[in-house]
Amino acid sequence: MINRVKGTQDFIDVTLFNYAISKIEKHLRSYHFTEIKTPLIENIELFKRSLGTVTDVVNKEMFIIKPAQADGIETLCLRPEATAPIVRAFIENTITRLPWKVFSTGPMFRYERPQKGRYRQFHQTTIEVIGSASIAQDAQFITMLDRLFHETFKLDNYTLNINFLGTYEDRKKYTTVLKTFLDKQITGALCKLCQLRKDSNIMRVFDCKNADCQKIYQDAPQIIDNLSNESKKEWEQLKEYLDLLSVSYSYTPTLERRLDYYNKTVFEFASQSLGSQSAFCGGGRYDQLVHMLGGPKEMPSLGAAIGIERLLLLLEPIRDRLTIDQESALHIIIPFSKDQKVLALLLADELRSHDLCTDVIVDNASVKSMMRKANKMGATYVLMLGEDEQKMGKVLVKNMTNGTEEHVAQIDVVKHLKK
Ligand code: HAM
Repeated sequence: MINRVKGTQDFIDVTLFNYAISKIEKHLRSYHFTEIKTPLIENIELFKRSLGTVTDVVNKEMFIIKPAQADGIETLCLRPEATAPIVRAFIENTITRLPWKVFSTGPMFRYERPQKGRYRQFHQTTIEVIGSASIAQDAQFITMLDRLFHETFKLDNYTLNINFLGTYEDRKKYTTVLKTFLDKQITGALCKLCQLRKDSNIMRVFDCKNADCQKIYQDAPQIIDNLSNESKKEWEQLKEYLDLLSVSYSYTPTLERRLDYYNKTVFEFASQSLGSQSAFCGGGRYDQLVHMLGGPKEMPSLGAAIGIERLLLLLEPIRDRLTIDQESALHIIIPFSKDQKVLALLLADELRSHDLCTDVIVDNASVKSMMRKANKMGATYVLMLGEDEQKMGKVLVKNMTNGTEEHVAQIDVVKHLKK
């Protein structure tokens, strides 16, 4: 027995998964987004350059692929996220229609420690707007996500956490201010990990789980107080838009997101009921990424990704409140003996050509056991074909919901089932 790889999942019933994806897609299309697909494998350099070499995703969590025939130059990996690949596709396909509003759904791969809501292969719907600088775009984008979660999925147990990182220059300046503050702490006050992060990726210190460190960070200078006037104005404007659009949010000065490419607006939708892996959607602005990945000029952009597995954890308990399409009625044809098998297969063809979901029990068994099997399969109607029915050109139709049986002429069967 070979088991599934650690941190991966089998989806034996995809009803809720497909429901969630189709609702997300419908919602995004109504905001004028179109779907694209990019490969699962990319050059590792793409992520080093975009996510940053000191982030955990690149440093520790990459699934690196070494093809048997590799020429030693190319180093490939399974994509850990889709923003960098979408930006690559934007540049490589010389897209000129701006803003480019696209979404893409598919699996991502991160070699993280598996736990509830955290997998090594998981799904995201990534949504990007490339080529739009207006802060009103941020407001529209965040509102779109909030409406999706609140109105379409009827979720009410989440918060929207927002922070504003300013421009890359603001962020750089703030880094110095924060470093001065941390350097002033007494030796040993910060945990070892925070000591390391202080010198490599300073805003990551806020992610520390250590209570003593968190106590120190309560008094840390906030990025919001270190913004340029222009950035301050944008932050005020964003808040005003969200208020006017009736989007509730919580200002979270420690929200930094784990990836390097962000500036200005960053946000996360999180739910306490998910436990420690509480964020089920996260994103923000990344105004320089297009240029960093080789685009001819800077291209202000923003986006987010919805973690599908975490969304499903939230939807499962309220499944009854969602309008998930019922599975279509199932028609099972039972030929009593091998002499009726061809007739059964032809009749099944006819039913399917009229969009009726149909299956034929082809393995020889007694009528009784075939009926039992049809029942187990969840048949709505069982169509029985014996020698008599074959001679009469009829079929015995049993309605499995109310138990009634009726002989129907074979040429009228579709009409009978559709009425
Ligand atoms: P991210 O925050 O790394 O952002 O991932 C987005 C969401 O994917 C998370 O909020 C979470 O729900 C889900 N997720 C992440 N890692 C895992 C995991 N190991 N297992 C299960 N779910 C997970 C990004 O990936 C950015 N590309 C988002 C973005 C798009 N920013 C701008 N555009």
